[in-house]
Amino acid sequence: MPMRWLWRASPVAVLAPLLASCSFEGGQSIFKPVGSVAQDQLDLFMWTWYLSIPVMVGVFGALVYVIVRYRRRAGDKMPVQSHGHPAIEVVLTIVPVIIIVMVAIPTVRSVFRTQSHVVPTADDIVVHVTGYQWWWKFEYPDLGITTANELHVPEGKRVILHLNSGDVVHAFWAPRLAGKVDLIPNQDNQLWFDTNEGSAGIYHGQCAELCLGAHAYMRFRVVVAEQADFDAWVAEFQDPPVQQAAADPQVAQGRQLVASKGCIGCHNIGNYAADMHYGQPQFPDLTNFGLRHTVGAGVLDATPENVAAWVRDPQSVKPGNRMPTLWEVNDPKRDEETAAIAAYLLSLGAEGDTTALAQASTGGN
Ligand code: CUA
Repeated sequence: MPMRWLWRASPVAVLAPLLASCSFEGGQSIFKPVGSVAQDQLDLFMWTWYLSIPVMVGVFGALVYVIVRYRRRAGDKMPVQSHGHPAIEVVLTIVPVIIIVMVAIPTVRSVFRTQSHVVPTADDIVVHVTGYQWWWKFEYPDLGITTANELHVPEGKRVILHLNSGDVVHAFWAPRLAGKVDLIPNQDNQLWFDTNEGSAGIYHGQCAELCLGAHAYMRFRVVVAEQADFDAWVAEFQDPPVQQAAADPQVAQGRQLVASKGCIGCHNIGNYAADMHYGQPQFPDLTNFGLRHTVGAGVLDATPENVAAWVRDPQSVKPGNRMPTLWEVNDPKRDEETAAIAAYLLSLGAEGDTTALAQASTGGN
């Protein structure tokens, strides 16, 4: 008897934690749309949902009625067997056709409005997005900016993304801004969204296509800023301070270490020196790293401790990522040197940070 109850309760035990993870308020909820594309997609979802309610009530109501009304009773004989009922079959064909048309018309209208390729105007923000295992490259061809994992856009503008991949298929998804679109090697996929005035804040996104290893940690943020803050962010990139000699000895040590440890062999650091452009395109650009909110594609907040922990042992923070471990576990200089590199990286562009968005997160997590 207890076993039977256990068995009956098992769906509840499975569903309860699953449903408990659902939220209308979370940082990635489609029920809190920002901008016309996400609003359009939510409206379409709700319209379909409202249409499905009478279908569900009708079907389950009829089912329960038949089960109760025509259940087998003691002494019942075999009922008369029949086949087909033209009136019911006509109704059961016409009603679904009407429902499908009612779903199809707004769907097609929405697809043409939100999924068509748009020709950028001078007012739009165009960004080339490249997915890599397991981070995001954001390039602004009109502004000459290359950065990683944090997409900055001014509020109230239309943003046009060209999506491509440097390796496998990824998918760009910032649920509060727009539906997901795949990033496929050698294919120029496009996604656009816009934001409302007054929507400044941080909107969370992540890769939505299983891309092996650290897929679950392939996150990004869309930083929607007021125009003046966005302009300041752009200016910081277009004229990064060249740190030839840092006053802080720890920063100076870190600056020396990113060269001697080989960091700049993979990562471009625009601030490193005016005429030096090391790094390779398939690794995150660290220019103005001090303006970032996170490290490791959104895995950790970019605090000095976290950045140092990331540099010290990246595999323990984000298993599978491509960062090598540069210190032996028992290297006596490991803590000191990783702290110095963190101090240096966080100093890049940080003194020019006028966006002050670290505290302005509206996205939760
Ligand atoms: Cu990239 Cu999943």
